[in-house]
Amino acid sequence: MSFDFKSLRAGTNASSEDSQFAQTVLEGLSREEKRLPSWLIFDDSGSEIFEEITQLENHHPSVCEFEIFHTHKQTIADILPQESFQLIELGAGDGRKTLILLEQFLKNGMQIHYAPIDISEGAIKNLVVTLESKFGNTSLTVHGLAADYFDGLDALAKDRSKKNLVLFLGSTIGNRDYPGAEHFLRQLWQSLNAEDYVMIGFDLMKNPKVLYKAYNDAKGVFQKFNLYLLDRINQKLGANFNKENFVQQGHYNWQSRAVESHIYSTKEQTVRIDALNREFHFGLWESMQTEHSYKYTQEEIERLAENNGFEIVEHLFDAKKYFVDSIWKVKK
Ligand SMILES: C[S@@+](CC[C@H](N)C(=O)[O-])C[C@H]1O[C@@H](n2cnc3c(N)ncnc32)[C@H](O)[C@@H]1O
Repeated sequence: MSFDFKSLRAGTNASSEDSQFAQTVLEGLSREEKRLPSWLIFDDSGSEIFEEITQLENHHPSVCEFEIFHTHKQTIADILPQESFQLIELGAGDGRKTLILLEQFLKNGMQIHYAPIDISEGAIKNLVVTLESKFGNTSLTVHGLAADYFDGLDALAKDRSKKNLVLFLGSTIGNRDYPGAEHFLRQLWQSLNAEDYVMIGFDLMKNPKVLYKAYNDAKGVFQKFNLYLLDRINQKLGANFNKENFVQQGHYNWQSRAVESHIYSTKEQTVRIDALNREFHFGLWESMQTEHSYKYTQEEIERLAENNGFEIVEHLFDAKKYFVDSIWKVKK
């Protein structure tokens, strides 16, 4: 029985991460149509706000993925090697869905080593504490890693003595466009061994009215999540964004087939960013596009798997077919 935690984030890559952050903000705000990617939001607080999103009753990606885990937990267990294996989770956050699987696997007497990875050190520390209090008396072993996806994966997955199952849940893959998702999957394939498994959560294309409700909540949690990006730029780059002067809304774009979040400037204003030694002007109601959440068809998911070295094992749907967790095997 062992539950431990390690950070791969200290020191080495910190300055290159900072310069990537600064460069991305500079490029994004210099465009004619301002645009900042959602990965900029994630640190401990960003990850915590996302956990609030997963508890919203209209946010169907979370509601449906919980339903899939409850309904299909035994099917998932049956697909996996019955001997011991390593369960790696990319962007684990609070790991609440994975707890459902862990309980089932342990009930079936499976020997599991769980390695959750997240960029947020706070999220991983909390998760390891929760797991120890829940599963301290079982055969489960846990090694939490605060790391970027592939730094963490490369440190874990090359050991060929154990099969790996990699979870990438919450339709996090949908934050990248199709070519970006292909690039991510090719990197994932390279990090894994033949016959390893992956399970990826995709939000499926559906009625845009349902999509609208999922990304525009009455409590304003989506707005809080997206505006937190401005706090991050203030903290990391010495900017003077005032969140009171911006509002957020999500829109479904039928051409990109993504729900796109926009932050609108409620007045004409100029924001200074000290670390970039630049000022950026915002016109009244000018938009800055932030989060993207691409929606998929089943055919696109199958093409993504086949084009990037995976064989489809099973699609697990919720009752409404709003969401799918797709299980693939690595072909090498
Ligand atoms: C969309 S949330 C999904 C959380 C959880 N898996 C779920 O399904 O509810 C994405 C998670 O990935 C983490 N994350 C974002 N970028 C990351 C990166 N480059 N490397 C590792 N984790 C990352 C965030 O901190 C966050 O916890």
